[in-house]
Amino acid sequence: MKGLILSGGTGTRLRPITFTSAKQLVPVANKPILFYAIETVRDAGITEIGIVVGDTREEVKGAIGDGSDFGVKVAYIEQEAPLGLAHAVKISQDFIGDDSFVMFLGDNLIKDGINSLVDEFRRDKPNCQILLARVPNPQQFGVAELEGGRIKRLIEKPKDPPSDLALVGVYMFDSNIFEAVNAIEPSWRGELEITDAIQYLVDKGYQVHPHVIEGWWKDTGKLEDMLEANRIMLEGIETRIDGSVDEESRIHGKVVIEEGAKIHDSVIRGPAIIGKNSKVLHSYIGPFTSIHDNVTITESEVEHSIILAECIIENIGSRIEDSLLGRNVTVHRSERKPKAYRLMVGDNSEVEVL
Ligand code: G1P
Repeated sequence: MKGLILSGGTGTRLRPITFTSAKQLVPVANKPILFYAIETVRDAGITEIGIVVGDTREEVKGAIGDGSDFGVKVAYIEQEAPLGLAHAVKISQDFIGDDSFVMFLGDNLIKDGINSLVDEFRRDKPNCQILLARVPNPQQFGVAELEGGRIKRLIEKPKDPPSDLALVGVYMFDSNIFEAVNAIEPSWRGELEITDAIQYLVDKGYQVHPHVIEGWWKDTGKLEDMLEANRIMLEGIETRIDGSVDEESRIHGKVVIEEGAKIHDSVIRGPAIIGKNSKVLHSYIGPFTSIHDNVTITESEVEHSIILAECIIENIGSRIEDSLLGRNVTVHRSERKPKAYRLMVGDNSEVEVL
């Protein structure tokens, strides 16, 4: 079996972060989401992986390389425009050949992995296996209508969902899917939908097995989803202190302090992670916070947030919460007159002030 991981798309719901970075490379618990996808596929025993890339191809290639750091062999498949998930399958036919494969959307996270699901697919050999999860907002996903445990209908982003069973971004196919992706037409949003391709398989009498998963799953398209993913992944860390913590500081709960990081006169309340060479001085870092590398936090409080590399946070009077700061962002108190907010933020940013 092969793996096909999708890492194209524009990430509009995570702007402005995605103006300069691939959404799949935004880290949760200091690790890019895409890395979790590769590890999940690898842990299911699949080591030959194709990654479909778009506009952010150089950044993705730079981060993953030939896959050897992950113990897999990676081939890159270029998608010239974001024309849909089924289009990504279509252009991957040469790479897949006659094999079966797992398709994994690079912005999806599945906490418990896919080992047993891949085993089930290998054992039962249906033509396709889809994963479904109950969600409170099915309008935002592909949705399945089941009848007697079988798929009756699949609809992409329905206004009036027939169930709360969302299609998880992990699919297993045999090579009959190529007949489907070559037969369907683009949807109203101009994309070849994988949902329509699977509906084609159902209509033509191919075996499509639904599997409702109970564990935690997230499509990390939006800020609140990123923060939730960060929470879930941080819950799984074990304390490891490779950096330095002075005597005036206190560390509570599960906390990772990476090499070269310095904690001075501060309180870190886990689960939290402080990246390499970051400094936390006279500050408080609260639960569910991921601070990436080379960040400096002075006289400030940060909780339930993701702070990317090279940021500076200084003398903030109140606490920063529920926030995602991109790379190299500075937030600081200023004594300059006139007393005013001075902002330089990218397009589509959001700033909440007190
Ligand atoms: C895609 C699929 C959708 C699926 C979702 C899972 O949506 O089209 O059926 O439920 O991934 O993450 P998109 O992320 O393109 O909006």
